[in-house]
Amino acid sequence: MIRINRLAFAAFASPDTEQLADYYAQVIGLSETSRARGTIHLASPLGETCVLLSHGDATACQALAFETSAETPLCDLAKWLDGHGIASELRSDPHPDIAAVLAFRDYNGTGIELFNAAPPPALVPPTPAISPLKLGHAAFYVNEIHEAVNFYRNILGFRIADWMEDFFVFLRCGPDHHTCNFIAAPRQGMHHMAFELRDWAHLQTACDWLSRSGYKLTWGPGRHGIGHNIFTYHRNPQGQIVELFTELDTMSNEELGYYDPRPWHRDRPQRPKVWSAKDAVNLWGDGPPPGHRD
Ligand SMILES: [Fe+2]
Repeated sequence: MIRINRLAFAAFASPDTEQLADYYAQVIGLSETSRARGTIHLASPLGETCVLLSHGDATACQALAFETSAETPLCDLAKWLDGHGIASELRSDPHPDIAAVLAFRDYNGTGIELFNAAPPPALVPPTPAISPLKLGHAAFYVNEIHEAVNFYRNILGFRIADWMEDFFVFLRCGPDHHTCNFIAAPRQGMHHMAFELRDWAHLQTACDWLSRSGYKLTWGPGRHGIGHNIFTYHRNPQGQIVELFTELDTMSNEELGYYDPRPWHRDRPQRPKVWSAKDAVNLWGDGPPPGHRD
């Protein structure tokens, strides 16, 4: 099985990459680090590449890139995937500072890129914009949710973090409660992407910066039940939902099998489970606005 260590970046197509690049730089606080082969690379203030933008007919998430264990070479992963009927392609020098990726598609048709090791992050100048810690997770619509779960568990080694009834699943590849989420729906594509902030105070200044930049929250703040993250949502200039969150549950000890205890947990200990939608959506704050799941 493939062992994934972290979500590195999400790659997007857009008919207006300059508009999105300006939003990620001026509002979110990412820094443009390169324009290689028509792709704009944007890094977090910690220097980790987390968003790629390239031209396309419609705004859409094209791929997610994950860092895998350096113990297993990509060519071995390619053979393992081939043994499971999954065609992959080894690409050399696909991105600045990444020597090679193994590219294939997940059950949903989203591109997956695996790489063995990222270079040490470069220093990025400070910015007055939001400045997240990292790209935390991405959520997608899927037609067959159990097929998607099987793919991410059996091929990519994800664990189930929680279910919301039988239509919304949260999956994790490391200590963070979720890295990929799937919502059962007749459509496909990304529902939202999420950046992690330092704390509740950072979320407050982020909301002020969004307002100064002309962006209204579409939902939040509130605290989700599942994952217990404090959340806000807004839409970027091309309509994609962007979440800013903090205080997401973590499981620092897999052998214990429960999330690190927090005062706001209602279960003690808080183990992965199936939640009712009523309890899962939020512990406080308003419910989702009309259209949030559309
Ligand atoms: Fe989220």
